[in-house]
Amino acid sequence: MDKSTITTYLNANKERVLNELLELLRIPSVSADSKYNNDVLKTAEAVKQRLVEAGADKVEVSKTKGFPVIYGEKIIDPKKPTVVVYGHYDVQPADPLNLWDTPPFEPTLRKTAVHPEGAIFARGACDDKGQMYMHVKAFELMMKTNTLPCNVKFMIEGEEEVGSPSLGQWVRDNKERLKGDVILISDTSIIANDTPSIDAGLRGLAYMEVEVTGPNRDLHSGVYGGAVANPINILCKMIADCHDENRHITIPKFYDDVVELSKAERDDMAKAPFNLDEYKKDLGIADVLGEKGFTTIERTGIRPTLDVNGIWGGYTGEGAKTVLPSKAFAKISMRLVPNQNSDKIAALFQKHFESVAPNYVSVKVTVHHGGEPVVVSTESIGYKAASKAMEETYGKKPVPTRGGGSIPIVALFKKELGLDSILMGFGLDSDALHSPNEHYGLFNYYKGIETIPLFYKHYTEMSKK
Ligand code: BES
Ligand code: MN
Ligand code: MN
Repeated sequence: MDKSTITTYLNANKERVLNELLELLRIPSVSADSKYNNDVLKTAEAVKQRLVEAGADKVEVSKTKGFPVIYGEKIIDPKKPTVVVYGHYDVQPADPLNLWDTPPFEPTLRKTAVHPEGAIFARGACDDKGQMYMHVKAFELMMKTNTLPCNVKFMIEGEEEVGSPSLGQWVRDNKERLKGDVILISDTSIIANDTPSIDAGLRGLAYMEVEVTGPNRDLHSGVYGGAVANPINILCKMIADCHDENRHITIPKFYDDVVELSKAERDDMAKAPFNLDEYKKDLGIADVLGEKGFTTIERTGIRPTLDVNGIWGGYTGEGAKTVLPSKAFAKISMRLVPNQNSDKIAALFQKHFESVAPNYVSVKVTVHHGGEPVVVSTESIGYKAASKAMEETYGKKPVPTRGGGSIPIVALFKKELGLDSILMGFGLDSDALHSPNEHYGLFNYYKGIETIPLFYKHYTEMSKK
């Protein structure tokens, strides 16, 4: 396998490789919304078909209690290493629809400042259909050019965006079939197209919902207002009190298990290129806000957070209605860092929220999904192989970074399969994942397909030593 084999094949198949992805992006595989159930299943079938065409064996749409997992493999020699590829074919809801410049499930190509060669605009373009499909095409490339150097197994799920509720059981049920040496995932980002990076860690997550109840019914805000607690006002105060003036989280024991980085480790992190002015400009904000004593990169990489994802209650329709609502709700998530534990943090949050509630309201806290933080050793063969592969295709050694997002299943792969995951992503944080106008650069898509075969090559070679 050399670079020219890759570029020759890619050049000859450039259009088809793109059109196939566009076709996949036209199916609205929104896992969170049951209205799209059939489309999610249709996407699963399409992925299966593509894996078959690429040359995988034993391809199967494997049932779970939720959406199926697509499995496929190519075993060329049981003595050779096995790379297990993980990705997801489900996408986030596209709402709010009116903020999209072009419809989310009608992919279109447009140029942007950071993507002068053009980008694919569609829900899932980057997260994760585009990045997942690079692996299918890189596999096809290795099959068609007779250069697959090791065994490969695919595990593509359809419930990542809703917390992977079925994958844990599926992994436990398929331990034999999933035997391998390393997990390879492209579902994260690089710093910039001229600054490759590899996530050497991801944050965990604890996702909660709270319900605050005041009076037993909605009231006239004139007749009762001023005398009866308004649960929305109370909830807002309770949320505001979760941070102190230094943006520290005030939940007792919240930081107990947080691993503090050494000065040397923090100095190392600070070497990653980052321009705060560009960051602010990209987001249209005059200033950033975060925990005192930490840089922006540290705030998203190695520090835990607490954020409201949604808040509702009372009257939100057209015009005005004078009402003192009976209930207020919020969805609150906490990003976790090593060695915090999502069950433990969920319990601390629940206890705290219930204990600070004044007696004129009642509070109900429920736990949604969670996931554990992970760190990936930069000394592992997998990381080194990914680093070498990227260095070859980008002409620069990738910087180790800490990803702020979460892929909860990564910790489970380690626990159940004993395997490390290599987070070789190719997207950009500015690609608007989970936002309107999500996109994925053509440069990034092709660069991924070009880099992945080199990972296989280096991983296989490095495993021999
Ligand atoms: N691909 C993202 C995670 C991600 C994005 C990691 C960018 C690092 C950089 C993934 O699809 C995702 O959105 N995960 C969710 C967690 C899940 C439980 C819904 C997240 O991070 O919010
Ligand atoms: Mn993803
Ligand atoms: Mn996502």
